Amino acid sequence: MTKYPQGIRKAAPLKGSLSLPKDTDDLNAFLLRTLLRASPHYVSGNALAEKMKMSRVGVWSRVDKLRKSGLRIDACQNRGYCISEEPDLLNASLVSAWKEECGIRCPLYLSDRIDSTNSEAERLLAQGKDAPFAVAANRQFKGRGRLGRKWFSPEGSSLYLSLALRPEVQAVRLRNFSLWQGVKVCRFLQAHTGVEDIELKWPNDLVCKGLKIGGMLAEASIDCDHVRSLVFGIGLNVNLNEERYPVDLMGKCASLFSITKKKWRLHELMAKLLQVLLEASEECLRGNADSRLIEEWPRFDFLYGKRVKIGNGTKLVSGIARGIDPSGGLRVDSGRGQIQIAHAGEIEFSSL
Ligand code: BTN
Repeated sequence: MTKYPQGIRKAAPLKGSLSLPKDTDDLNAFLLRTLLRASPHYVSGNALAEKMKMSRVGVWSRVDKLRKSGLRIDACQNRGYCISEEPDLLNASLVSAWKEECGIRCPLYLSDRIDSTNSEAERLLAQGKDAPFAVAANRQFKGRGRLGRKWFSPEGSSLYLSLALRPEVQAVRLRNFSLWQGVKVCRFLQAHTGVEDIELKWPNDLVCKGLKIGGMLAEASIDCDHVRSLVFGIGLNVNLNEERYPVDLMGKCASLFSITKKKWRLHELMAKLLQVLLEASEECLRGNADSRLIEEWPRFDFLYGKRVKIGNGTKLVSGIARGIDPSGGLRVDSGRGQIQIAHAGEIEFSSL
């Protein structure tokens, strides 16, 4: 469970007015959204009953169902209700509440357990689902990483999120899509957590003091140089405890929890990350990202000035990393006054 701010024993005047949804399922999200807005204050049962056009007993029974689904909602006589803790697994009603709170309209399909959120997004695209939409899961049993690697995806305490798009643009428009997403995600995580040394290891690793805390994977279907569909997946180690890593990842990975020694609310992070991904996609599709990327990359560039070796099977580029070029390639100074550009591959590096 992850805590919300302690309930203040005073009912709050309700901020802003939310309009009541027609769908009864959405009423749970509505109730939670009302509690989120008031948090850390209590919301009186009367106020909720009035807003939800139901009796106080009706409100109580919804609160009871939400509690049974894993949320902790405090009730206090003469004060009302207050959300106090969220479960470690994503809860559909709370995800909807946070999503609406962030003004996100795009649908999000949530599974408890799935092979890979990227694969599920691809399947839904193939079935003709309208895009954009997002797919999230509490656990992946075939989580995929870059270069054919597996992505360690245990249950709870991490985020697995994919965004599916049908961009219908020339492939060149999206050449820096992943890097721009990375910059926006990194900037958001720094601001959200207050940890300034969350950085990007080219092309798409999120690192903190050299330890990997997350990764991103973009997969596109391109037809005659036209991008028909694009799936962008992000995995982020949020509340993961170091003991849970398999041996081969120990000492190489970290989580927001291990860095900050505090647990982070998964639902809020998920919604805010999705908001960042949607915003970055729009900027990229409108063609507003390329120049901003070159300007902003240096702020987040973990590799700059480090000695790197990049091999992609046929070619080995080695030297000192010197940022990125306009096409998103890594600039490597090979020491003979010559800058080589690496476009893909496995990076090995040692600090100077
Ligand atoms: C990497 O660093 O190798 C990229 C990792 C990407 C992992 C995410 S988790 C959500 C989405 N679904 C997947 O199967 N992979 C991506």
